[in-house]
Amino acid sequence: MKIAVFVSGGGTNLQAIIDNIKSGYLEGVEICLVVASNSSAYALTRASDNGIPSCVLSVKDFADRDSWDQAVLDKVESSGAELIVLAGYLSLLGDKVVKAYSNRIINIHPALIPSFCGAGMYGIKPHKAVLARGVKVSGATVHFVNENYDDGPIILQKAVDVLPGDTPEMLQKRIMKECEQVILPKAIRLIADGKVAIENNIAYVKED
Ligand code: GAR
Repeated sequence: MKIAVFVSGGGTNLQAIIDNIKSGYLEGVEICLVVASNSSAYALTRASDNGIPSCVLSVKDFADRDSWDQAVLDKVESSGAELIVLAGYLSLLGDKVVKAYSNRIINIHPALIPSFCGAGMYGIKPHKAVLARGVKVSGATVHFVNENYDDGPIILQKAVDVLPGDTPEMLQKRIMKECEQVILPKAIRLIADGKVAIENNIAYVKED
C-alpha cells in the first residue's frame, strides 16, 4: 500500500513510520511522497535522508485556497498514494482532497478526542490545556479525516497517566513516544490489512 505522509514540523511520527517499514512491521507499505506545509519542517530532512520524494505545498504560495487544494490533490494522485497520513500536519486540508480521498485520510491527534481537540488545539497546546484542567489521563487518537478538525471516525486511542510535576513538554514527549508512535503505525497496518471498516460514522477495527 502506497501512502503519502503530510508533515509540518519535526517529523517524529514520520520517523516512526519509516522505522516500522524498515523493521518489517509495516511490510508492504511504501511512503511514496512526503508533503510539507512549510519548507523549514525538519521532517523534510528525514524524508531526504531516507530517499523519499518530498515537496512543499504551502497555501500562502498560491493565489487562493482552491488552487492550493487542487495542487495538493494533483501531487498526491500522481504519486499513486492510496492513503494519506497526516503526521503532525497543522493545516486544514482542502475540500477537494478530503472528498477525493474520503475515508482514506487519517490523522494523529495528541489528545483523547473528543477532549482537547478542534481548531487551535495542535502541537503543545492540548498538553497545556490538559494540565490547566487537571485531568488525570491523556493520550493520542488516530482518526479518519473529514472536512472539520479532529472530527472523523476514531480508529485507535492510547492513554497515559498525567503525572504529578508534568510540564506540557514532558507530557508531550511521553505521549509522542508511548502513544503516537505506537498507534499511528498500528492504524496503518490495520488499514493495509483491510481490518478497518466504517459504518454510520463509526470505525470498527477487526483485531486478531
Ligand atoms: C505531534 O504531537 C502530533 O500529534 C501533533 O503535532 C506533533 C507533530 O510532531 N499534531 C497535531 O497537533 C495535529 N492537530 P512530529 O512532527 O514530530 O510528528
